[in-house]
Amino acid sequence: MSKRQTLSKPLTAPLPDSKKITQLQTSLLNWYQAQKRELPWRKSKNPYRIWVSEIMLQQTQVKTVIPYFQRWIKSFPSIRKLAEAPIEDVLKHWEGLGYYSRARNLHKGAQLVVEQYNGKVPDTREDILEIPGIGLYTAGAILSIAFEKRAPVLDGNVKRVLSRLFCLNENGSTSRSEKKLWDLAETILPEEQIGDFNQALMELGATVCLPQNPMCLLCPLQSHCRANLEKRQQEFPPPKKRTAAKKIEVSAAVILKNGKAYIQQRLQKGLMGGLWEFPGGKIEKGETPEACLVREVQEELGVAIEIKDKLLTIKHSYTQFRVTLHVFLCQWTEGRIRATQCEQWRWVALKKLPEFTYPAANVKIVNLLTKTDFLKTRNLHLKPK
Ligand code: ADE
Repeated sequence: MSKRQTLSKPLTAPLPDSKKITQLQTSLLNWYQAQKRELPWRKSKNPYRIWVSEIMLQQTQVKTVIPYFQRWIKSFPSIRKLAEAPIEDVLKHWEGLGYYSRARNLHKGAQLVVEQYNGKVPDTREDILEIPGIGLYTAGAILSIAFEKRAPVLDGNVKRVLSRLFCLNENGSTSRSEKKLWDLAETILPEEQIGDFNQALMELGATVCLPQNPMCLLCPLQSHCRANLEKRQQEFPPPKKRTAAKKIEVSAAVILKNGKAYIQQRLQKGLMGGLWEFPGGKIEKGETPEACLVREVQEELGVAIEIKDKLLTIKHSYTQFRVTLHVFLCQWTEGRIRATQCEQWRWVALKKLPEFTYPAANVKIVNLLTKTDFLKTRNLHLKPK
């Protein structure tokens, strides 16, 4: 054996033989039958419901998704109803879940399924991958859970479980590593109960095989798991290189006129496209939040404002950013609105503000403004000159 081979850990451990894989499948499926969480989308194998749930569950925790899923199914009980709904209505049902392109794609996808498949989700990999927003993971989940097709799934939880089970030095951060994990997820699929097996792998990752402090004593796969047997759980999966999230400071203005607030709709293309927001922008180096706001409102709306009061400070995390939002109550002093960097703008009575759809941080501003006594407690006389 060469020196290099003896010193380095093997990149991939050999797979157990097929008998051991069968035992692993049985243990996992039995555990899932006994321990699975009762979730609203698990009540049926309806492909539309599974599709909606899987899209909502991307980047979002189960407990957050449940009420959104229930509201969604109540309002859009079928693919046809979703396809016919106005996009504003669809986005309103997504408000607060983030990554709004997921809702837009569900809507577009429903329209495609109605037009091309008479409202029935197709059951082949080729067709299903043509639907907007459906990638390999969602395709695998729908095909296996709704149609019992032998299709693997691979999300962050499954990657961790596989990496530990086989002491596999892979975290999916390169396409080569991702491919290896997909191949493995396919190799260990049983011939039957494929949907349950995939869900069991995800469930195990979400509830037992946790990133920190995995609960190996409760794990149905403890006698199969190489990382557990070698007490090397913390080594797998190998950590990903992370770039620290950028911190940005932003100011936003609540401009009131005759009891109405100014809001504008973000351009359809781009981040949070089509959502409504209060005007404002990023604070430049050396600028105060107040000076930033006067400048931004002049640049974006073409009007001058005077800042009256600090309303609140909101901290919000996105994948790549940590945003601190300084919100001010403002008086319009001069100029006619010429907003050029938005789809449209409106003056909206405070109690009607919740009829529009906003990014999460703006929802907090709306909640404050719609408290019944907001205007009274502020003793406002904010009218244009
Ligand atoms: N996470 C995402 N989809 C899931 C599913 N169907 N079962 C368990 N966890 C999941």
